[in-house]
Amino acid sequence: MGPKIRASAVERYFGTQSDRVHALGPLDLEIEQGEFVCIVGPSGCGKSTFLRMVAGLINPSAGTVEIDAKTDQPTAMVFQDYSIYPWKKVLDNVRFGLDLAGVPKKEGNERARSYLAKLGLADREKSYPATLSGGMKQRVAIARALAVEPEILLMDEPFAALDAQMRQILQEELLALWQADQRTVLFITHSLDEAILLGDRVLVMSSRPGRIIASKKVPFPRPRRGDVRNTAEFAALQGELWDLLRHEVEAHLADIGSK
Ligand SMILES: Nc1ncnc2c1ncn2[C@@H]1O[C@H](COP(=O)(O)OP(=O)(O)OP(=O)(O)O)[C@@H](O)[C@H]1O
Ligand SMILES: [Mg+2]
Repeated sequence: MGPKIRASAVERYFGTQSDRVHALGPLDLEIEQGEFVCIVGPSGCGKSTFLRMVAGLINPSAGTVEIDAKTDQPTAMVFQDYSIYPWKKVLDNVRFGLDLAGVPKKEGNERARSYLAKLGLADREKSYPATLSGGMKQRVAIARALAVEPEILLMDEPFAALDAQMRQILQEELLALWQADQRTVLFITHSLDEAILLGDRVLVMSSRPGRIIASKKVPFPRPRRGDVRNTAEFAALQGELWDLLRHEVEAHLADIGSK
């Protein structure tokens, strides 16, 4: 069996000749079915751009991104900023993707409710987003992505806007959710701690144009819990990855400083 996602010699440019930006690449990457891969890299190195290519929202300027898809809509995305509709109630937000996919309303409601229950929001289905905390809104966004039961879950800094405690709780919830159905996940974060806790593998990207400079397997067994942080191996891996990443973050800072 081939990989679930294969990126070959992918590059992406933005803009036209005079203000052309080389955002990403060349980048080669294979992600296996069921693998949880975290991507870290300096700001502006092309992480979101790559995720949008996997989602089919934009095309590479060169190279290819292939997905071994079994369904018409293989991916679902969770963004940083709770991209849920303020004018829709929680249940309708979670059902949104199912409505688009033509799932009958009754079945859609059942599925949406079951994912709301998994995320601890069973009693909030009639609430409007404005009445929810940040953590609850992000849970709604995650429930909406999971409800379509995507082959590949794409998460772009999904916990970045949350406070530290809420972030830890949602990390543990995501670990448990992943354990239940072991979907392929591509997860962007600025936190090495989060990347090591969640991932089977952590990819470190260079400053723009982003290339993959390291791919580290995370050795901790699953099911995994937050207390894996308290081990010497966790700290050692974090230190090792930070040495790689720091160099790229400094390169990025020098780059923006020189403009
Ligand atoms: N639609 C666009 N038009 C022009 N330039 C773009 C566009 N989208 C992204 N870029 C540029 O491409 C580069 C990569 O952007 P991208 O958003 O992928 O970075 P990122 O790694 O996700 O950064 P961050 O960590 O800050 O989210 C940046 O220089 C950005 O300004
Ligand atoms: Mg981004």
